[in-house]
Amino acid sequence: MIINLKIWRQPGPDAPGKLVDYRAEHVSPDMSFLEMLDVVNESLISKGDDPIAFDSDCREGICGACGFLVGGIAHGPDRGTTVCQLHMRRFKDGETLTLEPWRARAFPVIKDLVVDRSAFDRIIQAGGYTSINTGGAQDANAILVAKTLADTAMDSAACIGCGACVAACKNASAALFTSAKVSHLALLPQGQVERSTRVVRMVERHDREGFGSCSNEGECEAVCPKEIPITNIARMNREYFRAMLL
Ligand code: SF4
Ligand code: FES
Repeated sequence: MIINLKIWRQPGPDAPGKLVDYRAEHVSPDMSFLEMLDVVNESLISKGDDPIAFDSDCREGICGACGFLVGGIAHGPDRGTTVCQLHMRRFKDGETLTLEPWRARAFPVIKDLVVDRSAFDRIIQAGGYTSINTGGAQDANAILVAKTLADTAMDSAACIGCGACVAACKNASAALFTSAKVSHLALLPQGQVERSTRVVRMVERHDREGFGSCSNEGECEAVCPKEIPITNIARMNREYFRAMLL
C-alpha cells in the first residue's frame, strides 16, 4: 500500500507548526499505525531529516501513552481502539490521512504529535488516591463488595489516561477522565474516607488546569479507547453536589 500523509510538524512548544506532506510506501496491511510511522521515520533518519515525534510505550492499548488525531478523529476511525492498535488494513491504498496532535489549551504541544498531559497527573494528585491501609493481598476478600459495584468500579478503572476524550470535546473538557477516576474510588468501600474531599479537589483542579465544562454531547465516549461511559460524568456530578451539601 501507499499512504499519503499530512503530518503536523512543530519543532517546539513556542514554534509555529504546519502540516507537511509525506508518502509512506511499501506499507503492509498488517502493520500497526505506529509501525507505519516507524518506517517513515527510518527513511527520514536515513536522509538526515528530523523524525516525526509521537508518544508510545506498550503498543498494546493498555498504557495510554499514544494518541493523536487521524483524519480529525482521536485515535482514528476504529471504535474502542488506541492508535497503537489501529492497523493499516483499515485504510485504502492511496488514501490521504491527516495526523494532528490533541488540540487543547491544557495539553500544550511539546513537539509534532506529542503533547504535555501532565495536567492529568495533577488531577490525580489532587485526590485520586486512598490514604487508608487496605491490608495485603490476602485481606482483599475480607471486605465484601457487591459484584455490580465491583464491576462498575473496575470498568471505570479501565481509563488509561490517554486524553482522547479531551481532544474530541469541543470544550476540551476532561470530565470523562476525571469522572472515571472519581467513580472508581467512590464506588468502593476503600474510597469512602476521602469520598467528599476527593471529588471537590479533583473537579477544582480540573477547572484550574484550563479544561472546559462538559458539553453533554458524548463525543468523549465515542472516541474513548476503553469505552468509558458518560454515566461516570453523571455520577461525578452527583458526588460533587453530595459533597457540597455535607
Ligand atoms: S476516559 Fe477514555 S479517552 Fe479519556 S483518558 Fe480515559 S481512556 Fe482516554
Ligand atoms: S502505546 Fe500504550 S496504549 Fe498505545
